[in-house]
Amino acid sequence: MKQELTSDQAIALESKFGAKNYHPLPVVLSKGEGVFLYDVEGKRYFDFLSAYSAVNQGHCHPRIIKALITQAGKLTLTSRAFHNDVLGQYEQYVTAYFGYDRVLPMNTGVEGGETAVKLCRKWAYNVKGVPENKAKILFAEGNFWGRTLAAISTSTDPLSRKGFGPYMPGFELIPYNNIAALEKALEDPNVAGFMVEPIQGEAGVMVPDAGYLKKSYELCRKNNVLLIADEVQTGIARTGKLLASEYEAVKPDILILGKALSGGVFPVSAVLARDEIMLTIKPGEHGSTFGGNPLACAVAIAALEVIKDENLSENAFRLGNIFRERMNQLVDKTEKVKLVRGKGLLNAIVINDTEDSNTAWNICLKLLKNGLLAKPTHGNIIRFAPPLVITEAQLLECCTIIEKTILEFEN
Ligand SMILES: Cc1ncc(COP(=O)(O)O)c(C=O)c1O
Repeated sequence: MKQELTSDQAIALESKFGAKNYHPLPVVLSKGEGVFLYDVEGKRYFDFLSAYSAVNQGHCHPRIIKALITQAGKLTLTSRAFHNDVLGQYEQYVTAYFGYDRVLPMNTGVEGGETAVKLCRKWAYNVKGVPENKAKILFAEGNFWGRTLAAISTSTDPLSRKGFGPYMPGFELIPYNNIAALEKALEDPNVAGFMVEPIQGEAGVMVPDAGYLKKSYELCRKNNVLLIADEVQTGIARTGKLLASEYEAVKPDILILGKALSGGVFPVSAVLARDEIMLTIKPGEHGSTFGGNPLACAVAIAALEVIKDENLSENAFRLGNIFRERMNQLVDKTEKVKLVRGKGLLNAIVINDTEDSNTAWNICLKLLKNGLLAKPTHGNIIRFAPPLVITEAQLLECCTIIEKTILEFEN
C-alpha cells in the first residue's frame, strides 16, 4: 500500500483527504536520526523544534528503538484489566527518578493535564474539605495544555476557544508571573489547585521573573492549595535541569510529564504525586485503555535512562548559554530581532514586528531553505528547541544558519 512519494504528492494527499486543523511548513519528512531530519528528496535539515520538545533524546535513538522493538515482540497491550510484567518496574523506576510516591500513567500530555485536574478536585473534596462541586482550580493566562474541552476552557487564545463552547466551569484565570494576583485569588477557600507551566512554551517561551514559582509554591502551601506543575514541555532536561521547577528548588505537589517521556517514540504521559493526593482516586474512577501499557513502560524507562546516561540536562544547560549569547549578538547586529529568551535549549527569538504579522513564518520558510527546521509560535516569535543530543559544533553551525538567514531577510 505504501509508495514512495514526492513532496508535492504527499502534500497534495494531505490537502485532499486530511482535516485542515494544521498549517505545516511545506516540507515532507521521511527519516530522522539524532538532530537531523531528512525530506523525501533526501535533503538534510537540523531539527530545531524536536516535535515540540518530545524528541529531546534525538530522532530514533538506538537505545529507545531497541527497547521498543524488543518489547513489541513480546507484549504490547493488556489493558489495566490485568497486570503486566513491565508496569510495576516502570512505576518503581519513574517514581524514584523524580522523587514521588506514586505515578498514574496516561498517554498524551493533555490526558496528563486532565488527570491532574481530576486528582486535584478529588483531593479538594476528600482531604481539604471543599463542598461538593465547588472546587476551583487556578490557571495562568497564556497557558497551553492541549486541545480537550477542559484544556480549551482555560485558554486565553481565541483561536483555541472560539466556536467550541460551552466551557467547563470551576476554572479561574489569573495573569502569569503575577504574585499579587495569585495571592488575591487564593483568598477563596474553595481554591484547590494552581496549575502552571514553569516557562510558558506555546505562549512564546515566556520566562517568568526569578522567584515566581517559588513564591507561588509558598503561597499555595500557606493556603492549603496544590501546586500542579505542567512540565510536559519544560520537563525531562529541556531547560537545562531534569525539571524546570528545580531552578527554584520547588517540588510540585502534582507533576505532569509527557512528550520526551518516550523520546518522541509514541504518546506516553505521567502524573506524579504523593500518597495523600494519589490515593484519593479509587479503582474505576479514572483510567485509559492504553495508559501503562508494557510497550510504553519499556520505552519510557529507556528514554529516561538516555537522559541520565548521556548527561542531556548538562548539555542543554551549557549549550543553551552559548545559544543565547550568540543570539544576543544578533540582537545587537540587526533591528529585525528584538530579544532572545529561554532556559537551557528551550529558547525563542522575538522579531521586531507585530503579533499578527507573517514575518516569523517567512523567516521559517527561509530557514527551511537553508537547512534548519523551526516553527513560529506567534506571528513574531520563533521557538528554537533542538534535540538535546546536539553537539557544540552542530549548535554553532546552526547559529550561523540562523544569523545568515535573518541578515539575508533584512536586506
Ligand atoms: C505545557 C504543555 N502541556 C500539555 C501539552 C499537551 O500535550 P499533548 O499535545 O501531548 O496532548 C502541551 C503540548 O504542546 C504543552 O506544551
